[in-house]
Amino acid sequence: MATERVFNDPLGEWKRSCYCGEPRANAVGNELILFGWVHSRRDHGGVIFVDLRDRTGLCQVVFNPEIDAASHERAKQIRSEDVIGVRGSLAKRTAETINPNLPTGEVEVIVREIKLFNASQVPPFIIDDDTDANENTRHKYRYLDLRRPQSLGHLLLRYRMTKLIRDYLDSVGFIDVETPVLTKSTPEGAREYLVPSRIYPGKFYALPQSPQLFKQILMVGGLDRYFQIVKCFRDEDLRADRQPEFTQLDMEMSFVQPADVMQVIEGMIALLFKELKGIEVKRPFPRLTYEEAMNRFGSDKPDMRFGLELKDFSAALGNCQAKVFAAALQKGGVVKGICVPKGGDMSRKDLDDLTPFVATFGAKGLAWTKITADGWQSPIAKFLSDTEQKEVETIAGAQVGDAILFSADTAKIVHDALGNLRLHLGEKLGLIPENEFALVWIVDFPLMEFDPAEKRYVALHHPFTAPLEEDLHLLDSDPTKVRSKAYDLALNGTEAGGGSIRIHQVELQKKILGMMGIGAEEAEARFGFLLEALTFGAPPHGGIAFGIDRLAMLLSGAKSLRDVIAFPKSQRAVCMLTDAPFPVDAKQLRELGIRTTAKE
Ligand code: AMO
Ligand code: AMP
Repeated sequence: MATERVFNDPLGEWKRSCYCGEPRANAVGNELILFGWVHSRRDHGGVIFVDLRDRTGLCQVVFNPEIDAASHERAKQIRSEDVIGVRGSLAKRTAETINPNLPTGEVEVIVREIKLFNASQVPPFIIDDDTDANENTRHKYRYLDLRRPQSLGHLLLRYRMTKLIRDYLDSVGFIDVETPVLTKSTPEGAREYLVPSRIYPGKFYALPQSPQLFKQILMVGGLDRYFQIVKCFRDEDLRADRQPEFTQLDMEMSFVQPADVMQVIEGMIALLFKELKGIEVKRPFPRLTYEEAMNRFGSDKPDMRFGLELKDFSAALGNCQAKVFAAALQKGGVVKGICVPKGGDMSRKDLDDLTPFVATFGAKGLAWTKITADGWQSPIAKFLSDTEQKEVETIAGAQVGDAILFSADTAKIVHDALGNLRLHLGEKLGLIPENEFALVWIVDFPLMEFDPAEKRYVALHHPFTAPLEEDLHLLDSDPTKVRSKAYDLALNGTEAGGGSIRIHQVELQKKILGMMGIGAEEAEARFGFLLEALTFGAPPHGGIAFGIDRLAMLLSGAKSLRDVIAFPKSQRAVCMLTDAPFPVDAKQLRELGIRTTAKE
């Protein structure tokens, strides 16, 4: 006989005694009211057991017809994810029914009254950490997904993290200030999201890529120490570690050098690791110059959890007969390589499969050798003298049984190819320890590089970054040799944060903008407000910004940024819950003075 599922009991005067995850043996005998969702229901010959769930965990509640026939009768109709309330007394479970895996596993609530608040449809996936759902389904039904302890746990960790950050920064004198979201373009290098203005047809606001210029202006305003946990918007190609809207911890300080900013940050990061992971991180964090990071790891955000460092064979192979090497060296390039411990076990196919991998980074090939007891086993062995082979082995630190992989090209291509190959091999060979955290500051970035396509210099960080004083004399003669006062913090191969000391003198700022192809008129139109502010007693200042989503991801061990964002965008920049972006009607567009050329 099917019972009709009528779920409309009023809440009435019921007040929750505690959360489902809280009852313990010391409260046995107490009268309790619990609210929650039905995690599971088991009918055991007359007695019905329900695991009731809320954000804190599960509690077993028992409907026994001999205790209360009416609530037992009503409990027959409940299903997974219905939302109910129970009133009853807390009892100790018998020894054989204790569940050691549940914090509430020693107790259960013997129900005397039940309220059926609202029924649930059959959920589209299993509400458990071990779920069967794919990510898009989870995000379409994010409210169901958030009932899973793991999903909620990620948000909880994120909350604890931002709370710790706010308290820490408050304790060292920072002031939280909000900056506008409807604003003017801020140059961080990505495409912008634009918002049409109805009042000024044909004009647009830009959503900020970061509050960079506002925070500098706050320093001119004398705020001295500013921070904000703030949404930023960048219309870039999405990857696992990027979202179109994301959150920064944005900061700025006056009268500081890089070391001062780094010291504040190290205190904060150490606190986060201690409180959230129970890990004491050593301070000061290690530092690498950009040059050293590129030379040794082929990356400006090296993963320091494992070796496989890049070795430079250029000098050793200056006169070698191998055409691929000689050609690169003659053109001013480099020959570098990675020594793979026990790489001698790799098959020919394993080795050959790496060539298409490095090709995606522009490398034309990947030469290799195995080091055997009888010498080199390699297609290029015959082109290298014994002395050259020995020298390469020494530089590589190679042992019998290892393999060395070579890339010859411009330094840029070699670093990119080998840097990525290093990560690929680290992963593939299981060399990257889990649950280990390696922090490293990267400093002394070049101020700018030359973009041959655009025929102008572009800032490595952004055009407001100050040059190192000792390199200022190179600004006219050899601009790409000028290093900057920029610093990035890398964590396990991800750029967690980055910042710099800024230019606070207007003449230098105009000059740098000019070198980047931003002439006086354009500079005035785009950043006139900043340039003017610099002329009213702008103090020396600098700061940094962290990706809050990235920090939360790394600290929670989540696989994707989407896991630590309540309502993330998909890989294709769609909000799975609301289905944004969406088409708007003609009237709305007319009001904005906009006509679209997009086809239906
Ligand atoms: P930057 O552009 O390096 O610097 O950004 C700072 C940090 O923000 C995070 N981040 C992102 N996280 C998720 N999705 C994205 N699309 C994304 N883009 C950036 C990264 C990065 O380290 N105004 C400067 C900071 C400064 O100079 O003080 C800035 O925005 O973790
Ligand atoms: P090839 O002479 O082109 O047949 O190449 C001989 C070997 O050198 C092959 O294993 C190639 O993968 C490798 N090779 C070719 N070009 C490069 C390069 N630029 N750097 C490193 N190895 C290369």
